[in-house]
Amino acid sequence: MTKLSIIGAGAVGTSCANWGMVKNVAEEIVLVDIVPDLAKGKALDLIQSSSLFGYSGKIWGTEDFSAIKDSKVVIITAGKPRQPGMSREDLLNINKEIVKSCAEKIREYAKESVVIVVSNPLDAMVYVAYKVTGFPKNRIIGMAGVLDSARYRYFIAEALGVSPKDVQALVMGIHGDLMLPLVRFANVAGIPITELLSSEKIEEIVRRTKFGGGEIVSYLKTGSAFLTPGLSIIEMAESIIKDEKRVLTCSVYLEGEYEISGVFLGVPVILGKNGIERIIEIKLLPEEKDALKKCADSCKNLINLLNM
Ligand SMILES: NC(=O)c1ccc[n+]([C@@H]2O[C@H](COP(=O)([O-])OP(=O)(O)OC[C@H]3O[C@@H](n4cnc5c(N)ncnc54)[C@H](O)[C@@H]3O)[C@@H](O)[C@H]2O)c1
Repeated sequence: MTKLSIIGAGAVGTSCANWGMVKNVAEEIVLVDIVPDLAKGKALDLIQSSSLFGYSGKIWGTEDFSAIKDSKVVIITAGKPRQPGMSREDLLNINKEIVKSCAEKIREYAKESVVIVVSNPLDAMVYVAYKVTGFPKNRIIGMAGVLDSARYRYFIAEALGVSPKDVQALVMGIHGDLMLPLVRFANVAGIPITELLSSEKIEEIVRRTKFGGGEIVSYLKTGSAFLTPGLSIIEMAESIIKDEKRVLTCSVYLEGEYEISGVFLGVPVILGKNGIERIIEIKLLPEEKDALKKCADSCKNLINLLNM
């Protein structure tokens, strides 16, 4: 029986469990939260919808971390979200302690699992989980690129009035203002967007993508995006559980790829049953390389602040 565990039964964790159930990715989904009864209540609310669309798996919630035992994939969504006016980096110290405590539990109870980290600031929090679990780098992965690319793809589709299904695009780098929505690789059914949109419009879309998370925070006021983040996580978990070998942009530990070492950054990878099966290295133009290097420097600064 395939088990998927989600630590943190807040907005993102619950959305993730909901999408996991809708997409039938695992026979058992476990939600864990430190707040007494919260995960239980969320799981019960979710499983009661199973009769309406025919999910026959299990979803349950608990405060007991030993419940994650034998999970194929464990997702960390525990941590504070941003409030208006905050950057993701402002969450560094508080979420470091939360992610550290979750990673200790994963090391104790789910040694063989593939871990997907979601808490912000993302690329630094994956590093925390990597250090604390001691897991091999193919089994510690950050989710951000799938979400940032989904935003980019939607904004392109919206500008052109075409189906988002036909838009392919990728966003590399850090999950923050320095991220790189790459223009050269963005296309609609194979047609480069530079053939379809003016450079001014493309610039506007790139900018909106970079600040796409902040735009939602400014509307919600009490938290950050959770619906598309939940599905983005499930896209990754599904590729691992079903060994689909999808090509998705994930935050992974670089050791020389793209001439960068010692940090987690978003790059395209193949995701399968072993987690990261391969990092895809594409030839970048000098200005793209420089922009990626800036992301790496920013991530290194955050890692230094972690003191670990
Ligand atoms: N990587 C991304 O693309 C992305 C997207 C959206 C949100 N996020 C991040 O995900 C995190 C969660 O966001 P949210 O909106 O769900 O927040 P939320 O406040 O709704 O939920 C967080 C949950 O974590 C729980 N928690 C705190 N400490 C815990 C611990 N030690 N063990 C278990 N559970 C614990 C809390 O009780 C709460 O229920 C935030 O850090 C947010 O910035 C990342």
